[in-house]
Amino acid sequence: MEKTLLIGASGLAQEVLALTRAGSTHVVFGILDDGWADMGESFAGVPVLGGIERAADYIDIKLLICVGSGGAREAIVDRLALLGVSSNAYTTVVDPSVSDHDSSAIGEGSVVLANAVLTADVSIGNHVVVMPNVTFTHGNAVDDFATVAAGATFGGDVRIGRCAYIGMNASVKQRVHVGDYAVLGMGAALTKHLPAGETWAGVPARPLHDPHHSVAPTLPATDAASTTERSS
Ligand SMILES: CC(C)(COP(=O)(O)OP(=O)(O)OC[C@H]1O[C@@H](n2cnc3c(N)ncnc32)[C@H](O)[C@@H]1OP(=O)(O)O)[C@@H](O)C(=O)NCCC(=O)NCCS
Repeated sequence: MEKTLLIGASGLAQEVLALTRAGSTHVVFGILDDGWADMGESFAGVPVLGGIERAADYIDIKLLICVGSGGAREAIVDRLALLGVSSNAYTTVVDPSVSDHDSSAIGEGSVVLANAVLTADVSIGNHVVVMPNVTFTHGNAVDDFATVAAGATFGGDVRIGRCAYIGMNASVKQRVHVGDYAVLGMGAALTKHLPAGETWAGVPARPLHDPHHSVAPTLPATDAASTTERSS
């Protein structure tokens, strides 16, 4: 059993606690959060031990950052690195129901929740969060600090950039890339490369905040006319 300290009192931390309590690989003995002073003595049944910087005091204890935003996870890693916390201080938590046939790699600090499937040769970087029922297929590559919400599905050889966010039940066509720090909305169908830093949504996915490419469905002209007639 690996002694583990969680960072971030969040819904993700609750999910990790449920997973580790049911399993035999990690024992969580505490949680750190910058809001510790207002939190009381415990969170979800584990002691609150102080602010995030206290992680540097726990030598030989593995850490897991349980913060939903990839950018926030990246900032915490950078902050702790300045206090001497090295990249190998972080543990990896994978639900035992995850199917990966040992042909895939999952990096340090990453969390993979129940029923995710990694069919073959999938590469998941460091501090990646994969929520339940995600399907990765052959050759998928997920860069550090990416977040993949429940039910997302990826065709072969898809690449997901650093800190990218994939919403619930989104799907990505084979060989398509999601850029660094990009966001793909829930339910989207991404058919072409999503540039770094942009937010796309819809079916097919388009830029969300571009007035020339609304994600709202557009009625055909005839239907629009008849709607006007009915309402007048
Ligand atoms: C895409 C997303 C990031 C946009 O968030 P936002 O910038 O706050 O956008 P808003 O909620 O202000 O919505 C802006 C417009 O886009 C529409 N929109 C938002 N998300 C959409 C989506 N996924 N698909 C289609 N349209 C969407 C809204 O209806 C709204 O349209 P309107 O201006 O005609 O009313 C967000 O809606 C999303 O999908 N997040 C992922 C949620 C998720 O998977 N959560 C998992 C939690 S574990």
